[in-house]
Amino acid sequence: MEKIVIEGGYRLKGRVKISGAKNAALPIMTACLLTDEKCIIKNVPKVVDVATLSGILGELGAEVESGEQGRLVIKAASEGSSTAPYDMVRKMRASFCVLGPLLAQRRRAKVSLPGGCVIGLRPIDLHLKGLRALGARIDVEGGYVRAEAPQLKGARIYLGGPCGSSVTGTANVMMAAALARGTTIIECAACEPEIEDLANFLNKMGAKISGAGTPRLTIEGVDSLHGAEYEIIPDRIEAATYIIATSITKGEVTIEGARLEHLAAVMDKLSEIGIVLAGEDRRLKVISPAKFTSTDLVTLPYPGIPTDLQAQFTALLSLADGISVVTEKIFPDRFMHIAELNRLGARVRKEGPHAIITGVSGLSGAPVMASDLRASAALILAGLVARGKTVVNRIYHLDRGYERIEEKLSSLGAQISRIEDERGSSEEVIYA
Ligand code: EPZ
Repeated sequence: MEKIVIEGGYRLKGRVKISGAKNAALPIMTACLLTDEKCIIKNVPKVVDVATLSGILGELGAEVESGEQGRLVIKAASEGSSTAPYDMVRKMRASFCVLGPLLAQRRRAKVSLPGGCVIGLRPIDLHLKGLRALGARIDVEGGYVRAEAPQLKGARIYLGGPCGSSVTGTANVMMAAALARGTTIIECAACEPEIEDLANFLNKMGAKISGAGTPRLTIEGVDSLHGAEYEIIPDRIEAATYIIATSITKGEVTIEGARLEHLAAVMDKLSEIGIVLAGEDRRLKVISPAKFTSTDLVTLPYPGIPTDLQAQFTALLSLADGISVVTEKIFPDRFMHIAELNRLGARVRKEGPHAIITGVSGLSGAPVMASDLRASAALILAGLVARGKTVVNRIYHLDRGYERIEEKLSSLGAQISRIEDERGSSEEVIYA
């Protein structure tokens, strides 16, 4: 098992290129199951979750070939196993997105329930509600969802849940509706750029989807879809993570490739904290202030502040003057990073869905434990500025969603390296 060692106190300088968006690549990969023709996807990030999903698609009969520069060629079979087993789905929750495409293309599917994780219960009731509305017969037994549909039929579906829209729920139902007979309208659809990217890919495959990026999606079902070539959007969460990494070290970095329109709420909040973002689309210069201003922050579905940046913002605000309150509205338990940040000298306490942060003048290095993808990133950010050495353990979480993070940070001047943990791989791997 590997860990990351950071010597804190080095200001980040230079320029960093943002990779393709993991959360766009994953559903787009599952959409390739909707045709038996070849699909070419470009700018796919080299992260563990993509490799895991490639393996699952292979088990479902698809040929998956990864090439240079993030190019992925996927050719699914129109027949083959329609079972996505537990030991695969538990590793990567997003693989539950094979359900909609398998149901639409092969008329049946058996997919393991994803189960919960450290950031929350991760229910799938909205996925099933949407697919049932399209006429699928769905049974849940033995930890598996079994779905059958001789022919899916268009429907009007409200897909909002207690915390608003569902990203992968929208993806699953939209992909199934693409091959349903008739028109489907999804109300309270997720507006995330990654869903818009998926809709754009499906339309290149011959689907007829309008309203992507808005809460109302209209999908006119077609008889079949063909292969397509597509380039994934840049990863807005990775981009914001490097913006915060630059700011927390009081550095000056140019972020290359990020789309400004995907970062409106994030940039607004960063400016409240005192961070200046200059430049134009795809070339954003981060200029850090001498000190950070405390503020309050609430995570919301897009276009609000993403829950996937809550931990990173918490790390930054731990060094702001005064008290900040971070409220997590999407995954109220998503606070595993608090205890670890406090080991580094932060002063954060959890009150229900709120993190109450009392700013401190500095952090000091210590060994810490990563618990999930974005909490790991927050610990790296804190380690970049903590005095002395920080060791982040269980970094397999990090590798699921960040491409070559220590290389990118080293190129910006961070003193960071990845080393083999002498305890070996005795520790059980826990999937978040
Ligand atoms: C996606 O997860 C992302 N993953 C998550 O990113 C992200 O945190 C999340 O959306 C929210 O933006 C991928 O896209 C692969 P949801 P998803 O369904 O789709 C509730 C990362 O770090 N809900 O949008 O699983 C749910 O409990 C990962 O990259 C239901 O109630 O999240 C939550 O409160 C972590 N019923 C809210 O909706 C359902 O059927 C939003 O969840 C589904 C969800």
